[in-house]
Amino acid sequence: MPKTHPIVILTGAGISAESGLETFRSADGLWANHRIEDVCTPEALARDPALVHHFYNQRRAALASVAPNAAHQALARLEQAWPGELLIVTQNVDDLHERAGSRRIIHMHGALNSALCAACGERQPWQGDLPPGAPCAACAAPMLRPDIVFFGEIPYHMDRIEATLARAGLFVSIGTSGAVYPAAGFVRMAGALGIPTLEINLEPSAGSGWFDECRHGPAGALVPAWVDALLAG
Ligand code: APR
Repeated sequence: MPKTHPIVILTGAGISAESGLETFRSADGLWANHRIEDVCTPEALARDPALVHHFYNQRRAALASVAPNAAHQALARLEQAWPGELLIVTQNVDDLHERAGSRRIIHMHGALNSALCAACGERQPWQGDLPPGAPCAACAAPMLRPDIVFFGEIPYHMDRIEATLARAGLFVSIGTSGAVYPAAGFVRMAGALGIPTLEINLEPSAGSGWFDECRHGPAGALVPAWVDALLAG
């Protein structure tokens, strides 16, 4: 692969599992204990804002007691050492990539440490609990909501993601079940363009069959090994 072509790395909840954050679709994961339609849709926010805010306040609070793991750290190390462009596209709303040192990162499903004004669209950094009806710093409307892409909403920065993917030299997917589009479709987009694709996941995902190569096992071991080999090669 020419080192001038970007590496695009898609990450999902599995990369943060070894840090202690719950994934969504494991047997005891978040969607086993909460209904998506109760906490992760625009309709849920309109119907019961307190419940939706409580769910994301819990997620935000959980960030305080976790730290990046070896997989996050390896990707940050790769970004520093790789001579070409590298872009992490994460579905995760945690900040563990940033805390590990990654800088070229797109949060396509939003971020827990950000609040979005439903009235004017401005964002502001947010730590701690976000109560329903908190006022926007820009327009003062009492309509701040978690800056999270709910089911039924369009993920962020799709133009930039697709443009970078279109000129990539490698697409790697780490710790995602391949169940949620449009992210789950990136592997086929890359494949159609002749871009090599690699899956690193604990177990085969819904999209495994679309990848050129799959490595199955914990990200904390497999990602550092992949980064070491790539930098040595
Ligand atoms: N190492 C690697 N992979 C792991 C590990 C680990 N230590 N632990 C779990 N996994 C894998 C699981 O096997 C699973 O395939 O990570 C994947 C996590 O899948 P999901 O829980 O579905 O999470 P994700 O793919 O990120 O979900 C996508 O769905 O509802 C949402 O918006 C939410 O961004 C999220 C989206």
